[in-house]
Amino acid sequence: MAGPSKIKRIGILTGGGDAPGLNAVIRAVVKVAIREYGLSVTGFLNGFGGLIKNQARELTEKDVIGILPRGGTILGTTNRDNPFHYPVVKGGEKVFVDVSDRIFENISIHGVDALIVIGGDGSLSIAKELHAKGLAVVGVPKTIDNDLLATDQTFGFDTALTTATEALDKLHTTAESHHRVMVLEVMGRYAGWIALAAGVAGGADVILIPEIPYRIDKVIDTINQREVQGKKFSIIVVAEGAKPVDGELVVQKRVEDSFDPIRLGGIGHVVAQQVEEATGKETRVTILGHLQRGGSPTAYDRILATRYGTEAVRLVVEGRFGYMVSLRGTRIDAVPLTEATGQIRSVPLDSDLLLSARQLGICLGD
Ligand code: F6P
Repeated sequence: MAGPSKIKRIGILTGGGDAPGLNAVIRAVVKVAIREYGLSVTGFLNGFGGLIKNQARELTEKDVIGILPRGGTILGTTNRDNPFHYPVVKGGEKVFVDVSDRIFENISIHGVDALIVIGGDGSLSIAKELHAKGLAVVGVPKTIDNDLLATDQTFGFDTALTTATEALDKLHTTAESHHRVMVLEVMGRYAGWIALAAGVAGGADVILIPEIPYRIDKVIDTINQREVQGKKFSIIVVAEGAKPVDGELVVQKRVEDSFDPIRLGGIGHVVAQQVEEATGKETRVTILGHLQRGGSPTAYDRILATRYGTEAVRLVVEGRFGYMVSLRGTRIDAVPLTEATGQIRSVPLDSDLLLSARQLGICLGD
């Protein structure tokens, strides 16, 4: 790997589940690298898979024209293909092996001096291990879940939150017309950021998040009390990672070669059935799913992604490898990848937004 002054070519990849704003980061990296520092950029395709299989393309300013408002990633992504735990078939059986050396070979084939990894906890943990093995790497925090340590916000979250809030606005009108209970299940993995923020922004009556195991009787009481007050409809937001006191997570499926094999989903139906049975009120479920990952990034996410991309190139040029760009308050900062991965950032139980929700009378299930 070259030292900071010898950097001529940057590699970039997008890993893990996509999030609105990935293209905005790619655009910023390409434009700043080329215009400001006279560097070249190689894009590796489909996350770490492209680095392992040597799938890459040159990225020029022409390639990033018009991608700022586009969701997804022009480079493709995957939440599989961990180079340290890579599936191969040996003797007719699937086994997992370390193929990380291939990454160093392919990086060298393309003459790449430093790599920018845009990803969540899984991709950034891989980046951390590659840095420990000697790769010059810089991370950019991405995920709609907003659950990354060491940054106040990941890009993609604001867009997912906006989508969930719009869904709640729409559910409100139909809930009111039919005097129904509407349950909206949102993503977020083991953190309740999307559910809490969307619930508050969308005027939910009940918000269930992983950080506060819920009691279904509390939820039912809230619906019944609203009925007594003449409020004939109710809105419940439930995070996919919410679970009852003494209960289990609802797992939809396992994806074995993924960094985190567990795919959550289905708690919305569990809550809805219990509420309908106990209150006698017609209850419907909407699982917002991957709609939260799609679409054009909000202005906030475009700006955050652009700031992250710009700073990531600066870190590369300054030779500050093994760092992730991060948002601290209103400032863009850099934190070691070792401090940014391996643990998730949950909603603090004393957060002012939770307190605000409580004081507004929103049931949090406890
Ligand atoms: O981490 C982003 C996320 O969308 C989570 O909110 C969700 O649990 C998971 O990814 C879904 O993963 P997949 O795209 O594999 O279904």
